[in-house]
Amino acid sequence: MRPVKSYIAKRFQNSDAGLSLDTDALARYSDIIDLSIGDTDFITDDAIIDTAFREAKAGYTHYGDPKGDPELIRSVCDAWQTDFKQPLSPDHVLVTASSSMGMALVMLSVLDPGDEVIVFSPYFSLYRTQAELAGGVCVEVPTYASEGWAIDEARLRAAITPRTKLIVFNNPCNPTGMGYDRSTLELLGRVAEEHDLLIAADEIYTTYLYEGDFIPLRTIPGLAHRVITLNSFSKNFLMTGWRVGVAIAEPEILEVMSNINNSLIYTAPSISQRAAIQALAIRQTIREKYVLAYRDRIFYAADRMEQIPYLSLVRPKGTFYLFPGIEKTGLSAEDFCQALLERAHVLVTPGTLFGSTGAGHFRIACTVGLDRLKEAFDRMEGLSF
Ligand SMILES: Cc1ncc(COP(=O)(O)O)c(C=O)c1O
Repeated sequence: MRPVKSYIAKRFQNSDAGLSLDTDALARYSDIIDLSIGDTDFITDDAIIDTAFREAKAGYTHYGDPKGDPELIRSVCDAWQTDFKQPLSPDHVLVTASSSMGMALVMLSVLDPGDEVIVFSPYFSLYRTQAELAGGVCVEVPTYASEGWAIDEARLRAAITPRTKLIVFNNPCNPTGMGYDRSTLELLGRVAEEHDLLIAADEIYTTYLYEGDFIPLRTIPGLAHRVITLNSFSKNFLMTGWRVGVAIAEPEILEVMSNINNSLIYTAPSISQRAAIQALAIRQTIREKYVLAYRDRIFYAADRMEQIPYLSLVRPKGTFYLFPGIEKTGLSAEDFCQALLERAHVLVTPGTLFGSTGAGHFRIACTVGLDRLKEAFDRMEGLSF
């Protein structure tokens, strides 16, 4: 037999392993504060878990409708109408096993080989692999801390070619914590309209916007037919492990996504979907109980960070992430993160993982309590570079 590795498909033989931090340190120190995890530290609310248990006992343990539990779809439509004042019909909703799956299905549905997908760097790193798995090419449009992570119209236009088919837009944004306002949404709409493009709007941090009301991209007048909205119960409802999300789009696109989904997983988990119905019913309580705790944490972290001379920060508007700059240290993102791990026993993520303009930055996920955050910043404050 040939070496096993030689059986791997050629396109994966040189796969990048991603992070290159020396994580041996994790085993060496017992007092590591881990600020690298993009997962909520809260357990899903009891009311949601209790519903799942009850519904499992009631028999929701089978395959479900491949497009999603009809009751969940109705709840999604009702919630959309109530929260965003836009009618949404059930044929515009597909339940997916997470928004990661939803985005992958979008790429697989709309990209022909060589089609280009625009992402705004820094970006959630799965977008690149999702585009490439679908045969597409990921094109980065840079955004910069020095410009408050704003999307620049000229740079966006310059990136568009005859092969461009899709823009991926994440609002509020992981990793920068940026929340984009109506003028940016209208800009994207204008450009998409002029060049006849689709936009995949990753809005999984919907409730994690701390200034003003969240505006879904598809509610911008005239834009709904171009937008594929990806949402998820992972962050808004602290249900990362349940793997349930929704895609909202034109029925012709959802039809293809659903057909591909049938071959991959068939349906999102039945019990998770029953739990998601309950989650939507108590969404106000969930936001007040948990999401606002993240608001307190990121603004606490931002205040502390602004006191640290070797860091710079664009204050976040949403999510639970901060993306400080480290230019003043003279170190690369990876060397800085390694130093933070060795000298302060604080684990964070190098910005390079999030695309070209992530260089010179690192990401902090405020997924520990205020006491641990305080300890992490006390330690970081004691360092100099
Ligand atoms: C911007 C963004 N999109 C998508 C995801 C994936 O979410 P899901 O759990 O729905 O797959 C994440 C997870 O961290 C994220 O930050």
